[in-house]
Amino acid sequence: MDYIDLRSDTVTKPTPEMREAMAEAEVGDDVYRDDPTVNRLEELAAEMLGKEAALFVPSGTMGNLLALLVHCQRGDEVIVGNQSHIYLNEAGGMSALGGIQACPVKNQPDGTLALDDILASIRTEDVHHPITRLICLENTQNICGGVPLTPDYTREVGELAHRNHLFLHVDGARIFNAAAAQNIRVTDLVEPADSVMFCLSKGLVAPIGSMLVSTGKFIARARHLRKMLGGGMRQVGVLAAAGIISLEKMTKRLGHDHARAKKLADRLRKVNGLVVDQNSPYTNMVYLNLSDDVQSNAQHITQKMKDHGVLVDAENSRRFRLVTHYWIDDQAVDKTVSAFQRALH
Ligand SMILES: Cc1ncc(COP(=O)(O)O)c(C=O)c1O
Repeated sequence: MDYIDLRSDTVTKPTPEMREAMAEAEVGDDVYRDDPTVNRLEELAAEMLGKEAALFVPSGTMGNLLALLVHCQRGDEVIVGNQSHIYLNEAGGMSALGGIQACPVKNQPDGTLALDDILASIRTEDVHHPITRLICLENTQNICGGVPLTPDYTREVGELAHRNHLFLHVDGARIFNAAAAQNIRVTDLVEPADSVMFCLSKGLVAPIGSMLVSTGKFIARARHLRKMLGGGMRQVGVLAAAGIISLEKMTKRLGHDHARAKKLADRLRKVNGLVVDQNSPYTNMVYLNLSDDVQSNAQHITQKMKDHGVLVDAENSRRFRLVTHYWIDDQAVDKTVSAFQRALH
């Protein structure tokens, strides 16, 4: 059965154009820097984000980990959102592999960390304390609803960081969604950041891969650490070829995913038994709950939705997340609404 898959934008399969480009990609050994397609992807990523250099990495998790490892020494502390992917969903890599300690700060409903909370979390110079080294922001903030952070907010955090001799890393897994939603250039969002990670393999549809972007010196160090982690890849131009299409084409069409998410949310608001979050969606994620009068739980509804050909993600026993992407068209929106109606009644 061909499912309508709304569990995540990570489920996107490559387009026929990507598969063709992958088959025809010119390749070489990327550990020797001999892969022209990877070199082109890295140059393009750096240029599009307005930074000096970029590194192609297998996953967003590795990109974030490398950023933390380059910025921090063992025993250093990193200020992260308590609802951030780095803190919750990266297998504790920063502590296990970097000896780095997380200092979680409450994410506000709009995805931000309050500036006062950040300030209060910066350690004073004291022989007892770890050294605060880095602030991490997530844009878009996934758990807070796929909400985009603004250029002004990012600039304020950047200024706060640099005034306090800290670095700013942006986990921009979906930074192009954040830019599209605000109708701004991605450079406006990342200019204050010392390093940025973004994913090719989510809304940008590539099968694998993320980019870490920063200064030339930073990326040279990250390249060394990527090798240490076993992430030095060989004829990986076959993957980079899809990534180039992600950057050149897919970054320009994310507005369609956002519009479909909005259409889906508007339609689901009219379905008895569902309560869509008030401001949802901000980008390509629709968050909703079962209303109190529904006796069934989200896992059970998820199973029934699957029987109707629609895959959705149950966040907990009452809550769902639905993510639109390249392969979700208007017909898929219609089918999802009717699958919910049937699953609930
Ligand atoms: C906000 C955010 N950061 C980082 C990642 C990690 O990406 P990957 O799954 O490629 O490791 C994800 C993945 O879903 C994410 O949502």
